[in-house]
Amino acid sequence: MTPQSFLLSPELAEFVRRSADPPDDVVTDLVAETAAMTAAGDGRPTYQVAVEQAALLTLLTRISRARWAVEIGTFTGLSALAIARGLPEDGGLLCLDRDEHWTAVARRYWERAGVADRVELRLGEAAELLDALPLRPTFDLAFVDADKTGYAGYVDALHPRMHPGGLLVLDNTLRAGKVLDPQDDDDRAIASLAASLAADARFDTVLLPVADGLTLLRVR
Ligand SMILES: C[S@@+](CC[C@H](N)C(=O)[O-])C[C@H]1O[C@@H](n2cnc3c(N)ncnc32)[C@H](O)[C@@H]1O
Repeated sequence: MTPQSFLLSPELAEFVRRSADPPDDVVTDLVAETAAMTAAGDGRPTYQVAVEQAALLTLLTRISRARWAVEIGTFTGLSALAIARGLPEDGGLLCLDRDEHWTAVARRYWERAGVADRVELRLGEAAELLDALPLRPTFDLAFVDADKTGYAGYVDALHPRMHPGGLLVLDNTLRAGKVLDPQDDDDRAIASLAASLAADARFDTVLLPVADGLTLLRVR
């Protein structure tokens, strides 16, 4: 089972899940395979986006009419699959992750879902891969779900590479509530990023209390 919102009772979380588009066989199998991997100590159970969050990513991709997208933090590929499904056939998603083993699982499911031709995966340190991208507006949508202490740098590196009106989506921006009482560097990084983004003239900013918190930044 993928992580549910810590803000909801288990019953309400189940109601929310059932009220979104139901996952198809590809998503169901990817969630099951990832759950088996993480139960065996390969990755963490909280890594994968929630199924209802995946449905939201597809919807956000469609309503923003994104054609070119970038993801930082791919793991076994559920969020990337959701974004790729929202893109037009001539669009593309660039995935950045440093782990070859987890992203090999992702590649299998993108193939199975028929979106592999829309997804390019680059392996390495996300900050270096981002710096190597041309410094011009390229992307309509970005999803950030990697190391939390890197988020501020990713936002700065992504901003000049996004079209005006483009959408940046940051995951885990409530840190299971620990933004109010930070316990580690990850919590502190996300809490301080929230304060700086609220005053950041580059974006229209909203934090949605969905799953573990999803911050939406529209490039002005
Ligand atoms: C939370 S998981 C991503 C989950 C994914 N979005 C999904 O829906 O399944 C974080 C991923 O970020 C990658 N990652 C963490 N820090 C990174 C870095 N500095 N550079 C590249 N990848 C990184 C990890 O290898 C891992 O696959």
